[in-house]
Amino acid sequence: MPESNIKLANEFADEYDNSIAKNNWTSPQILFKMIEERLQPKSTILDVGIGTGESSAPFYRAGHSITGVDGSKKMLTKCKSKNIAERLTQINLETESLPFSDKFFDLVISNGVFHLISPLNDIFSEISRVLKYRGYFAFTFENANDTSGYDKIAPETWENKTPTGVFTFKYNTGYISELLQNNGFTEIKQSTFLAFQNKELRKDFYFTAILSQLE
Ligand SMILES: C[S@@+](CC[C@H](N)C(=O)[O-])C[C@H]1O[C@@H](n2cnc3c(N)ncnc32)[C@H](O)[C@@H]1O
Repeated sequence: MPESNIKLANEFADEYDNSIAKNNWTSPQILFKMIEERLQPKSTILDVGIGTGESSAPFYRAGHSITGVDGSKKMLTKCKSKNIAERLTQINLETESLPFSDKFFDLVISNGVFHLISPLNDIFSEISRVLKYRGYFAFTFENANDTSGYDKIAPETWENKTPTGVFTFKYNTGYISELLQNNGFTEIKQSTFLAFQNKELRKDFYFTAILSQLE
């Protein structure tokens, strides 16, 4: 599965920024607002699944230092052309560790990525490893309120192969909370919101955003 989602991201990279503008991708601003007041000036931020850099851009404009990882070479090329990240690395989040030393970042963000990845255990543990003590982890995921059209593939995890070939995953909010707890995080805020509207399919997509802190 992971390879095919990355392959599709490569094919979609040229269109990505146009498409999110058209489909009202509100999620980057929502994530930024959730955390901005708590950040020290010039914080070190890792964006997991940075894509073209849309979610990192508000943090860059606020003066923070951005590092990004993504599985798609083409998405990373688009991101590089915006000059917002100090370091960009291509990795597959389902199979590889984060190429950073322990306790390096003040904040890890991941927006619109975890619904493309399964399982999440290893990446949550890696994020906990690279964060400084009392660092923040702010992310979104698709929660399992409505699993119609999805198959249950593991306890608390559902999968759907969409008509475009993208595999998407939904997770129980309780399962995500447990993963956070098991990796040393305390939840600070949580909200569910309209993340984007696919105008062609006439479908609304809701994400849940969580802000948590490493204790
Ligand atoms: C919907 S885009 C979100 C991009 C960005 N975070 C944003 O807010 O616009 C999803 C990103 O996840 C990346 N991705 C999906 N599966 C991945 C995997 N297994 N490993 C690494 N990156 C992956 C894709 O390449 C793509 O850039």
